[in-house]
Amino acid sequence: MQKTLKIPRHVAVIMDGNGRWAKKRLMPRTFGHRAGMNAMIAMARKAKSMGVQYLTVYALSTENFSRPREELEGLFDLIRRYFTKNVKELYAEGAAVRVIGDIAALPPDVQALIEEGVKNSPADARFFVVLALNYGARAEITRAVNWAISRSQQLSEDDVSRLLYTSDMPDPDLIIRTGGELRLSNFLLWQAAYSELYFTDVLFPDFDDAQFERAIEAYSGRDRRFGRV
Ligand code: IPE
Ligand code: IPE
Ligand code: MG
Repeated sequence: MQKTLKIPRHVAVIMDGNGRWAKKRLMPRTFGHRAGMNAMIAMARKAKSMGVQYLTVYALSTENFSRPREELEGLFDLIRRYFTKNVKELYAEGAAVRVIGDIAALPPDVQALIEEGVKNSPADARFFVVLALNYGARAEITRAVNWAISRSQQLSEDDVSRLLYTSDMPDPDLIIRTGGELRLSNFLLWQAAYSELYFTDVLFPDFDDAQFERAIEAYSGRDRRFGRV
């Protein structure tokens, strides 16, 4: 029997657990990140097929930047591959890629690939994969505050929203965190004000279509009151 599900317009995912997934297999952390990348690509396909419009994925936090050089290089290589190869499959399906975060801190060639990948996205896209790279919510809010101070300007809540990386996106309806930790780790602190939260112990590389469906089902059953009775 087919249930009618309420589909979130914007799903944001804290893709955690790649390192532990690799460790369980006695493999280097980078092996886990590679598996995580494949899981992310599959998840985007699944989200699109279910009618989600925005899928934001937390791929690299500002804090992750202090990880060992070798792990970071592995992550940069995955980003390079995503923006040279995988984005083409997205475009072919009429989907676009976007990035939030301070990419100026990434290696110059990676920055160039990202800019090209974003620019070459179809203009009429109905599905967006939004990669959070060197993203930190506190840095994002601080940037907006400094913008206002430099112009001696007071801000409304709408103004603040417009000054964030996510200015032209709806707030996430659902935030999923894999890997068992019960925290947001500096992800979308402003935008998460009324997001539904879904936590699972499943390590991100094991977060498959069935797991994604489960999260959507859980969301579908939630009563979103936004402070009303
Ligand atoms: C999340 O997986 C992906 C990134 C932070 C890049 P982790 O690398 O944090 O995996 P665990 O939490 O150590 O298992
Ligand atoms: C959050 O995971 C960041 C990403 C998934 C990119 P972390 O593994 O960095 O978070 P903490 O350190 O457990 O809070
Ligand atoms: Mg982690």
